[in-house]
Parts: sequence; structure tokens; C-alpha cells
Amino acid sequence: MITKPKGCKDIYGHEAKIWKYIDSVVDSVMEKYNYTYIRTPIFESTELFHRGVGDNTDIVTKETYDFIDRGKRAMTLRPEGTAGVVRSYIENKMYGDLNPVKVYYSGTMYRYERPQLGRNREFTQFGMEVLGSDDPMADAEVISLAVNIYKMLGLKGIKVKINSLGDTESRNRYRDELVKYFAPHINDFCCDCKERLAKNPLRILDCKVDRENDILKNAPTTIEYLNEESKKRFDEVKEYLDLLQIEYEVDPTIVRGLDYYNHTVFEIEADIKELGNNNILGGGGRYNGLCEMLDGPKTPGIGFACGMDRLANALELENIDLPLNEALDIFLLYVNEDEKKYAAYITQELRLAGFTVDTEYTSRSLKSQFKQADRLKAKFIAVLNSEDLDNNEIKIKNTKTKEEEIISLDALIYYLDEKLGMETEEDFEHICQCEGEDCNCTDCHCHDEK
Ligand code: HAM
Repeated sequence: MITKPKGCKDIYGHEAKIWKYIDSVVDSVMEKYNYTYIRTPIFESTELFHRGVGDNTDIVTKETYDFIDRGKRAMTLRPEGTAGVVRSYIENKMYGDLNPVKVYYSGTMYRYERPQLGRNREFTQFGMEVLGSDDPMADAEVISLAVNIYKMLGLKGIKVKINSLGDTESRNRYRDELVKYFAPHINDFCCDCKERLAKNPLRILDCKVDRENDILKNAPTTIEYLNEESKKRFDEVKEYLDLLQIEYEVDPTIVRGLDYYNHTVFEIEADIKELGNNNILGGGGRYNGLCEMLDGPKTPGIGFACGMDRLANALELENIDLPLNEALDIFLLYVNEDEKKYAAYITQELRLAGFTVDTEYTSRSLKSQFKQADRLKAKFIAVLNSEDLDNNEIKIKNTKTKEEEIISLDALIYYLDEKLGMETEEDFEHICQCEGEDCNCTDCHCHDEK
């Protein structure tokens, strides 16, 4: 048997419905914030990630899927989405458009990592990027957009952690300080960190091998080395977050594992023990130099990406009841060949009228067909019977109330419309909009908790 590659996943059935639901929420929230969809290639020139993500990052040195194509070009499966979006921004001269350019994406990314819960080799991210604004308001908007997606999905206990790496001057000061701090102890660190000390000491801070080393844990933090301008900028970001009522915590240990960041960096965590160290649902930050690094015009940028695999896990682990609409409106059953043809015809008519419909395809016994209707959670079933059909009638049963009726075939669409419409209204009555505060209604679930 040929099996899937290590660290990859097949997503199907109930899980696929969760993914589609997340996608729909992401689309709708992104649209509300006026972000437009962008789709860039899954593979790009290797050079893009070396220059964009950073030659000394773990992602580029150890985790990329690189290949030489048949034209002998060095290519890499994208390990993240930002570099590709910025490449596209430059190549398509989007800077000539209305600024800022606000885009969002969703797609598979590839990193050669040790697979575990919440960490795969092929994984999906959705993310957004804002190019062309250096305003702290944009930083707060990106953070609030991410938080609101999690809230819309019903996730509880998410934590926003923010930090600032400051501008180039602050980062350089911090870099020098780190070298001074780590140099006397560097022999206690892994081989990679020894190399990082000279090339990129910030990367020692997110080393997966030396994570527990006390020297690393007590390293100086970025915040202590921010110059006045960077401090002021960070304060403004926090003021906007307060204004938008986004709760956050300043965590000076956040430096992020990609080289392009400066100023604001942030991560959003789920409060779920089972996810262990992989409870960071998403992260992002500002990358004001990236566009120039990739030969584009000087353009500030900020963005965020969320791991869909981790998010879907978190929703399952928190037992969030998502409105997945898994039920069929109606399932049509039949016994003989004539009825089967009717089933094919009526199924088609009902689908064209907008109902979710299925029927039997393998001519199984009626008992098996009833079981199938049950498995598909059909709200109505219709048992086609030649005698009824000859009279232009159909027998229909509400699977919840067990009520059975024989109705005219001509009235079927009208009948379902009315019955299913009523059901939606009934369901709607139970969704309380008051969020439990000062609620006077009598039949919503928030009263159960009071
Ligand atoms: P990142 O922190 O490398 O940032 O990835 C963002 C999220 O992708 C992580 O928080 C995690 O949820 C998910 N993720 C990363 N690696 C894996 C993996 N191996 N398996 C499953 N999920 C994973 C970025 O990628 C930046 N491009 C974010 C950004 C956008 N910064 C600015 N704009």
C-alpha cells in the first residue's frame, strides 16, 4: 500500500467540514476588514526565502523542501506565506495601487520538521498582510482581526502576547548586547548556536535544543534596548489595542523565528494543555525592511499567519459546537426500478430548488436505505412507492417529529420550503444575542448558565 508522506495529513469527513467552516469564517471576517484574497504559488525561487525569511533561520537552514526543476532552477516549496506575498506586491507593482494594500491568503506550507500534534511537514496557514502603512493603528488592526477570527469561532482562553524588537538602531544595540551576554557561555550551547553567535545571535533565543538552558532563559530582553522612538511606537500600538478592547500581555521573550521582523511582534496562544509547546495558534509582526530586501521600493508591512491544523485541533479539544450543518434536508428511498428513476428525477429537481438532497445509488434493501438516511441525519425522508407516484403523490416523514404525510408531488418543493423554513426560525429563536447580560427572553440557552 502506498501511504501518505510522513508529516502530511488527509483531511476528510467531519474534520473537512470543520476546515471548510473555518475557511468561511476567515473569508467573512477578512471581507469585513476589507482585506482582498491573494493566491501566490506553492513553490518559489529558493533565493526568495534565503533573502526574505533569512539564511540563518532554522526554517531556511533545516526545514525547507528544496528541489531543482527540469530547467535546472533552484526551487523551494514555500515554508510560509509572507515572502511570496511581498514578492507578488513588488512584481505586480501593487505599490502603485491604493495604499495600503491589504491582502489575505490561505494555503499549504512545507517545513521539514519532526511531526507531532500541531506540527506537520505539510500544514495550512491562513494569514494577512498590510503593505504600505507604518501606522501603529495598522499593527493593532492586524492583531484585532486575528483575535476576532478566533472569537467568531468560539475559542475561549486565547492569549495575545506582544513585544517590540524596535527599529534597526534598537535591534543592533540589542544584538551587540546579546553577543556580549552569550559569548562567555557559548560552549554550553549546541553547535548551531555557536554558529549563530557570530551570524545572527537573536536566533539563539528561539533555539529548540537549548530552550531549557538557564543562560538562555535569563538573556537580556529586547524591550530594555528600545530607543525613545521605538518605545513611543510600541506605546501607541498598546494604546490602540486598549482602544479596540483587545486584551494582551507584554512578553519580552518573544523574538519570532524569522529574520524579517522589526518593531511589533506578537503570538496568539490557545489555553489547551494537550497541545503542549505547539499551543501557539498564530504569530506575526512588522517587517518594514522586507520589501527593500527583495529589491522593491521602501514599503512598511505587517502581517499575521495562523496554523489551521492547530486551530482545528484546538476547536476539537475545546469541544466547540460549530454550526456545521451536517444534516441533509431530505433522503429519497425506493425499491423498484421505476421508483429509482423517479428518485433520480425528484432528487435533481429538489437540488435545483436549493435543497440538500441525496438518494440511494446501489439499490440496497429498504432497511439499509433507512440506515443510510439515519447516518446522513436527513431531516425528512420520502419513501417512493409506485402506487403513490401513479397518483402523483409522495409519502414524506419528518424524522424528528416522526409525523408522516402523503402530499401531492407538485406541492413537494413548497412543502419542504415551508417546513424547513419553520425549523430554521425555531432554531433561530434559541440563539440569544444578549451574550447573557440583561436578558429578558425566556427560552435561550444563556439562562441555563445563570
Ligand atoms: P510562523 O510563526 O512561522 O509565522 O507560523 C505561523 C503559524 O503557523 C504558527 O503559529 C503555527 O500555528 C503554524 N505553523 C508553523 N509551523 C507549523 C508546522 N510545522 N505545523 C503546523 N503548523 C505550523 C509565519 O509563518 C509568518 N509568515 C507569519 C507572518 C505573516 N508574519 C508576518 N506576516
